[in-house]
Amino acid sequence: MKTLYLLSLVSILSLMSCKQEQPIEIGYSLADTALIPKPLEINPTHKAFGLNSETTISYKGADLKTQAELLQGALKDAFGLNLMVTDQKDSSNSINLAVEIEDTNLEAYRIDINPSLIELKGASVAGVSRGIQTIRQLVSVELVLGRENTRAIPTGTISDKPAMEYRGAMLDVARHFFSVDEVKRYIDQLAYYKINKFHMHLTDDQGWRIEIKSWPKLTTVGGSTEVGGESGGFYTQEEFKDLVAYAADRHIEIIPEVDMPGHTNAASVSYPQLNGNGKTPELYEGMEVGFSTFDTHSEKVYQFIDDVVGEIAAISPSPYFHLGGDESHSTKKEDFIYFINRVSKIVSKHDKKVIGWDEIAHADVPSPAVAQYWASNENASLAAEKGLKVLLSPAKKIYLDMQYDTQSPYGLHWAAYVPVKDAYDWDPYSYASIDESAIFGMEAPLWSETIFDTQSLEYLAFPRVLAVAELAWMPKGTTLWDDFKKRLEAQSHYFKREGINYYASPDINWE
Ligand code: ACM
Repeated sequence: MKTLYLLSLVSILSLMSCKQEQPIEIGYSLADTALIPKPLEINPTHKAFGLNSETTISYKGADLKTQAELLQGALKDAFGLNLMVTDQKDSSNSINLAVEIEDTNLEAYRIDINPSLIELKGASVAGVSRGIQTIRQLVSVELVLGRENTRAIPTGTISDKPAMEYRGAMLDVARHFFSVDEVKRYIDQLAYYKINKFHMHLTDDQGWRIEIKSWPKLTTVGGSTEVGGESGGFYTQEEFKDLVAYAADRHIEIIPEVDMPGHTNAASVSYPQLNGNGKTPELYEGMEVGFSTFDTHSEKVYQFIDDVVGEIAAISPSPYFHLGGDESHSTKKEDFIYFINRVSKIVSKHDKKVIGWDEIAHADVPSPAVAQYWASNENASLAAEKGLKVLLSPAKKIYLDMQYDTQSPYGLHWAAYVPVKDAYDWDPYSYASIDESAIFGMEAPLWSETIFDTQSLEYLAFPRVLAVAELAWMPKGTTLWDDFKKRLEAQSHYFKREGINYYASPDINWE
């Protein structure tokens, strides 16, 4: 993709007669395109489809209308092309969307590109949604010479589906609050790289960010600050539902987390009976961890948790509820186990499955449940032995809040410095000492002690979140750093177009 020779063979004469246009010839093929994640199978045919404002997007079946419109909006925003959307099938200069392939993997899709037509077929609407991201990534950054406002898409076929069913990113909206619009912007960027789960860390010592109608002080008091003394914020339940729907249109599931029994200072400031120590704590704006705990032997606390889980479960369609469970350094081990067991039952009562940080392996959480491996190989092994699935988020590799190096203006380095290569060049299937069958998927967390807006968020997430998107998508043992790096170089076009404040790592020869 570095040097694009877009040579149109169309002569002035044939342009003037304007009946049957000659095929566009381009100096690269479908196999050379900088797709991330890299598709399973690409068969190039060495011509090109010309995308222009006369191209239509046609969809088959009302449930694809939203996808057609999302593609339309993306092409308009990125390239200024105004494509018409129709439910009438077109046979030339059209992108046709349909749910028409059979695959037990519902995210599977196939794209057939020929000079006059692009057909995208998914195994479900989700498959079409993933294929749309591929089409967006295939549109050439340069105009075709000699044709009016036309961009090339190389011809051939792509057959694709992900290896892992759970390909996630997490955002900590508790240490610093991120507005609905800031979160939507990140969701859009994640969708482009086919991430399909978005975990929201909604509560912590520094802030409670989700409205709970039966316990209103959680947000009016507990949501009023954040790290560094800023003014905090929270999502009303209506706003949370709006985020869930926005993500769902992009086939991204939002998983809510309420972190407990530690990381609960903001809750206990709002309702001091929750910590059981008879003291009213103060709002906390620092960055230490491990000092707070709920009273694990208070029925009032379990009533509170029942209300919280119940209200969130009612507005969260995800089958999962994340109960936190990390760094409960102020909770005795036997109390921690008792607490996680009790809260797991509350989560089940509200028809949700448990996800928790890897420490929950010490409790007796009934499967199906998921332990999120962030720090402890032993906890991951114990979880797998107990029949839990393990979600891979090793801090040393894919904590997006780790600094790239000593010069990074944002981030921390308690786990490691994580240059771009380190985030990609490792084997998720052998990293934890667990059987592959226990692997639930991967997730890239982004903690927000040092970030507070879109600019600082993007600096840490981009480009490393692309590494996770690809490691989770491609089949085991097929990822190669040098190959990824070449495709990463071309992402600068997308980053710049979208105004993404990526870290332009000097190790990458950005285009
Ligand atoms: C964590 O980083 N405390 C899960």
